[in-house]
Amino acid sequence: MEALLQQIEQYKQEIHNTPVNGTESLEVYRIRFLGTKGIVKNLFTEMRNVPADRKKEFGQILNEFKQLAETKYEEWKTQVEVQPDVIDTGFDLSLPGTEFPVGSRHPISLMRNRMIEIFQRLGFSVAEGPEIEDDWHNFTALNLPEHHPARDMQDTFYIQQQPDWLLRTHTSNIQIREMEKGKLPLRIVCPGRVYRNETISARSHCFFHQIEGLYIDEHVSFADLKQTLYYFVQEMYGKDIKVRFRPSYFPFTEPSAEMDISCLLCNGKGCSVCKKTGWLEILGCGMIHPKVLENCGIDSNKYSGFAFGMGIERPALLKYDIKDIRLFSENDARFLKQFTAAT
Ligand code: DAH
Repeated sequence: MEALLQQIEQYKQEIHNTPVNGTESLEVYRIRFLGTKGIVKNLFTEMRNVPADRKKEFGQILNEFKQLAETKYEEWKTQVEVQPDVIDTGFDLSLPGTEFPVGSRHPISLMRNRMIEIFQRLGFSVAEGPEIEDDWHNFTALNLPEHHPARDMQDTFYIQQQPDWLLRTHTSNIQIREMEKGKLPLRIVCPGRVYRNETISARSHCFFHQIEGLYIDEHVSFADLKQTLYYFVQEMYGKDIKVRFRPSYFPFTEPSAEMDISCLLCNGKGCSVCKKTGWLEILGCGMIHPKVLENCGIDSNKYSGFAFGMGIERPALLKYDIKDIRLFSENDARFLKQFTAAT
């Protein structure tokens, strides 16, 4: 009898110490303790060896033990049913995961992508070029030879040991690089970062972004240029937008123009943003100068083309109502995270 009681104590310990695992170990447990040849059954058959005066006491202990074995089984079974993942893997897979911050698109990227998308619908593809450029691609090939006064408007950063290298002042260098490849017709938009030696303020910076457009084929005319840009601004700002072209000068285009759109804030009535003119200047454009085509080995008698270039910062400032251009490059998370859901 004493040996039996000791044995029961051991089994109790074993039950307490058995970890609650998956379905398979539950079945092993069931067979061991509660099966037809299991421990509980066996202990009951021991009853006949117990002296008559202690049968009642032993019966009680046995019943409690049986209860313990069964309760453990029931609890275990419910857990397996309710949270099988926790039991099988040891992890509660329904707990929230470790949070890590998801970035948001930069407002300049948002604006650039919008612009690209519109031109892609017209069949333009995207081309890129180097930010560290040589004099030929940034200036000379674009009909801006050394000592040309127009170079003064685009002062930039030079490298002392390599006087021929500079940080590109505009994305027009990509025009040249693409034309030099010699594959025509050419219909591309070229986004990128550009640099100028300018004092940093709320309105200007020593680097900013542009997107350049270029279309070269036989019989491309100024009418194509106007219609392309008109389509662009209508898609960008809505059908009611008005445009005007003002004659201008760029060494790489002839004729050249600047395009204005009716002010987005006052609809052309005149406000502080458009300086009471009702118009906002958004880009420079023109028919590619024959000399530029020839510089790149293109027959200017056979081919003609148009080009345009515009800044990305200004439209982004307007769209998102940002007052200071420096915010774009300060990497302040409080500023950037505001664009999480922006398009
Ligand atoms: N590169 C000019 C600038 O940065 C912008 C520009 C004007 C680009 C006319 C062009 C163009 O392609 O045709 O000010």
